[in-house]
Amino acid sequence: MKGSSTRVIHEAEGASRTADPLTTPIYQATTFLFESAEEVRAYMQGRSDKFLYSRYRNPTIQSTEAKVAALEGAEAALVLASGMAAVSTAVLALLSSGDEIVCSAAIYGNTLHLLQSVLPRFGIAARFATLEEFARPDGLAGPRTKVVWFESPINPTLRCVDIAAVADACRRRGVLSIVDSTFASPVNQTPLALGVDLVMHSATKYLNGHSDVTAGVLAGSSAIMRRIEPIRRLLGSVVDPVPAYALARGLKTLAVRVARQNESAFAVARWLEQDRRGKRVFYPGLPSHPDHAIAKKQMRGFGGMVCVDLDGGIERASRFFDRLQVVRRATSLGGVESLCSLPVDTSQWGYTDEQLERAGVTRGMARLSVGLEDVDDLIADLDQALNA
Ligand SMILES: Cc1ncc(COP(=O)(O)O)c(C=O)c1O
Repeated sequence: MKGSSTRVIHEAEGASRTADPLTTPIYQATTFLFESAEEVRAYMQGRSDKFLYSRYRNPTIQSTEAKVAALEGAEAALVLASGMAAVSTAVLALLSSGDEIVCSAAIYGNTLHLLQSVLPRFGIAARFATLEEFARPDGLAGPRTKVVWFESPINPTLRCVDIAAVADACRRRGVLSIVDSTFASPVNQTPLALGVDLVMHSATKYLNGHSDVTAGVLAGSSAIMRRIEPIRRLLGSVVDPVPAYALARGLKTLAVRVARQNESAFAVARWLEQDRRGKRVFYPGLPSHPDHAIAKKQMRGFGGMVCVDLDGGIERASRFFDRLQVVRRATSLGGVESLCSLPVDTSQWGYTDEQLERAGVTRGMARLSVGLEDVDDLIADLDQALNA
């Protein structure tokens, strides 16, 4: 009989031979067993589909990746530790010293900082292009450009970029096009079908949808994933099995959540626009939105994000923010809870007046992420908060 320390460590461990779980279990293991040296060698020589080490491949994470690929209509997908892990892993995999990346100037703030402050230290130049330049995509790429990176819809104005037009211009120049599709979710927009090479999401938002997981995803062809996956191993930017499991659970309800969020956000946007206490409402589904035609062309639904410009600057926006009772005061988006944030206090913090003007952002803006509460309660809450 072996000692109790030996027994407690090794007894009854590993996969069950009789349980056939309906859902994919959490393979919370950093490493996987081999029977023999020959089996390890077979793995190293690529003659085995066994799992070796979770930073490389893990069954739970692989199951989540298959679901992401299904939603995006992609050959392959990768799940990473955060949206920013997805951004940084993709750019480090696809760019080399001497290359240029052209990025929309209206982009998630930390993507901008990464491209502007970190990549140049490795000899990769970033050029930021306006939405007007993105509207004439033939002029975007220069001789050194390898990647064009953009977002649609864009935070917080929900401006949209014509994804098919940019993808087409890039393809003709032999440049990779990558879109951050976080605000749309794959329910409302599938950019690969519009011709882009790679789609990225902060899965922290709609994909997980319950404000309790930080993760990011990349989806595209098997060929592009073969370039990115080895870099994920080296950077160690893979997600852990527990958040991968939670994300997979969220993905199964994505379509019903987003359908309801589309409907409620549209109702909130229409109500705000007719109410007139806000100066201007930004929602891609409203005919008054500057990119309504683009949104109609490329989106199946207009999303759960609404932005309202409250005339009266940050003071009025702050009073509105402070009075909210059902809508919670927090940054982030895409969860079941409705959230409000003031762009100048979060995503556009520290911007000068000129930078704000270029981003189309005002000091009176409040951004709403519409959740799954009863829409009448949300509208009643906005109604009383607007009296501020
Ligand atoms: C559009 C967009 N892209 C990327 C990110 C970064 O994602 P994460 O916070 O999961 O790293 C965010 C986060 O707010 C985002 O809104």
